[in-house]
Amino acid sequence: MRNRYVSKPKLSTSANPAWTEPHPLFFEGEAISWLRGLGQNHSSYLVLTDSNTRRLCYPHLEPHLPPHYLMSIQQGEASKQLQTCLPIWEEMNAKGADRGSLLICLGGGVVTDLGGFVASVYKRGIATAYIPTTLMAMVDASLGGKTGLDLAALKNQIGTFHQPEAVLVLPELLDSLPSREWMNGWAEVWKHVLLALPEEWESFKEESPKLSYDLLRKAIGVKMALVSEDPLELGVRQRLNLGHTAGHALETMALATGQDLLHGEAVAFGLLAESEWAYKNGLSEQGLHEDIKKYYQTHYQHSLPKAWVEELFSRALAQDKKNRQGQLRLCLLEEVGKPIEGIAADLTVFAGHCREVWEGLKSKS
Ligand SMILES: NC(=O)c1ccc[n+]([C@@H]2O[C@H](COP(=O)([O-])OP(=O)(O)OC[C@H]3O[C@@H](n4cnc5c(N)ncnc54)[C@H](O)[C@@H]3O)[C@@H](O)[C@H]2O)c1
Repeated sequence: MRNRYVSKPKLSTSANPAWTEPHPLFFEGEAISWLRGLGQNHSSYLVLTDSNTRRLCYPHLEPHLPPHYLMSIQQGEASKQLQTCLPIWEEMNAKGADRGSLLICLGGGVVTDLGGFVASVYKRGIATAYIPTTLMAMVDASLGGKTGLDLAALKNQIGTFHQPEAVLVLPELLDSLPSREWMNGWAEVWKHVLLALPEEWESFKEESPKLSYDLLRKAIGVKMALVSEDPLELGVRQRLNLGHTAGHALETMALATGQDLLHGEAVAFGLLAESEWAYKNGLSEQGLHEDIKKYYQTHYQHSLPKAWVEELFSRALAQDKKNRQGQLRLCLLEEVGKPIEGIAADLTVFAGHCREVWEGLKSKS
């Protein structure tokens, strides 16, 4: 979706010291300078791409990289499995990667999640740098140091916390991103606006999706502020789970039944289902829920899987990492910019609610 990113002047990360914790973040020219300055800082350099980013993004970066060894995985979520790691570790070993090597992950969330995991346990942990190439990875997956692998159909069941040495943001890499992938990442931008950017919401909800440099920077800032305060997700970082409890359940069901649904599309559904839950439980006003519903119907409803066999929200929610003996912990919005985390919800009742919302939408689509 070309031209949805509107380029603006360079940003200095030093303007916002919070962004240097827990890992530094460099934009555009500063990102390129960081790469060019790598020199002999590490004993060797490895670059991990997927089949698309090797073709579409690597040529833009190659001139700025120190001598390196290039590796690739097959594109797509199906690669985010333990089986994919073994040949990468073997390749790294064969190329002499040691504790002083740097693994540069150039790709979307699959490459950064998997590459981060690979590096975090290789020789008990080597350094990484991430160059996110999708909007999803730029505003979410590359930030905060969570790595992850899926366990068959279960999302992100294996993983570590491993902070990258730097995250390099080059928005022009988004130029080749297909429109569906762009909207996938946009769901996380939407979430960040709902969580902490109330001043953006009025225009955001009326306009068609378009990413200004300012909004990109702010959306990244929302996640960075929360992960800086709570790197291990013991408190405020849980706010980032807004929309993710219902969303993950839908995503798990899609993965288990081979349905085509992207993470952000599932999160968009989750934002809707959880806002309706907040309204039903007297936490928020109807107006907010109606705005969210309208936004969902305008931009995401078409993404619901068409041929669903079963609607197993209960079973999918039982896999949620926040489930404790049938009680979920939700982050809900009181109003835009006012999230409350740790709200208990009975799993069975919440599953029934999600199913109701989902079936209501399905019958209209
Ligand atoms: N670690 C975290 O905190 C975190 C947060 C959010 C999401 N995630 C994970 O991120 C993953 C989803 O990330 P994603 O949406 O980036 O998926 P992805 O990495 O699979 O990328 C989506 C598709 O876009 C292609 N692509 C990537 N960059 C491109 C470009 N510039 N031009 C053209 N095509 C390009 C990829 O090859 C792939 O086909 C999920 O596994 C999710 O669990 C992790």
